[in-house]
Amino acid sequence: MDTPKFYDLPKLAYDYNALAPIISEDLLRLHHEKHHAAYVNGANAILQKMDKARTDNADFDTKATFKELSFHIGGHLLHSLLWANLAPPGKGGGEKPSKTIGKVIDEEFGTFDRFKKLFSQTAASAEGSGWAALAFCKKTNRPIIMQVEKHNTNVYPMFRILMVLDVWEHAYYLDYKNDRGKFVEAFWKIVNWTEINRRLENLLKS
Ligand SMILES: [Fe+2]
Repeated sequence: MDTPKFYDLPKLAYDYNALAPIISEDLLRLHHEKHHAAYVNGANAILQKMDKARTDNADFDTKATFKELSFHIGGHLLHSLLWANLAPPGKGGGEKPSKTIGKVIDEEFGTFDRFKKLFSQTAASAEGSGWAALAFCKKTNRPIIMQVEKHNTNVYPMFRILMVLDVWEHAYYLDYKNDRGKFVEAFWKIVNWTEINRRLENLLKS
């Protein structure tokens, strides 16, 4: 089977209404089917344009094209990470981190509550459109909180992302209006720590 040459919109592991009332069905559907899909389509359109330029042996504006490609691929990858690091409340969502991830968080941040506070502050203070992410540095064996502007600015190369929270307005406005803080607070009720721990253990094994 040939390796796919384009990106696909991943299916969610839960129904569109499964995260309500934290994220309503309308909001999740819009976010996944419209916003995430736009990044997938945007990245694929640029890849097609680059393929055509190769066939035609033509030049293209590299600065603008690679910047736009990074924006769309960043948007696609971060949203893909986000859907999987969420789970419905009572079905894995909102539990406390345990196992390796629980230990790593306690060692670096002192307590889970202190980590929650720092991560929430990072999400609340992202200027304009962006993300809060928990990444991990294998050189120092430290989890690192990272604030991402747009989808691609401030990303640390090589640091694998374990968990993300989308704080673009499209991620919360329909349910929370301009109250980003309330959305960030509610996010903790649907965090899927089993998945985040799986990502960390895979990274440590690699
Ligand atoms: Fe988003």
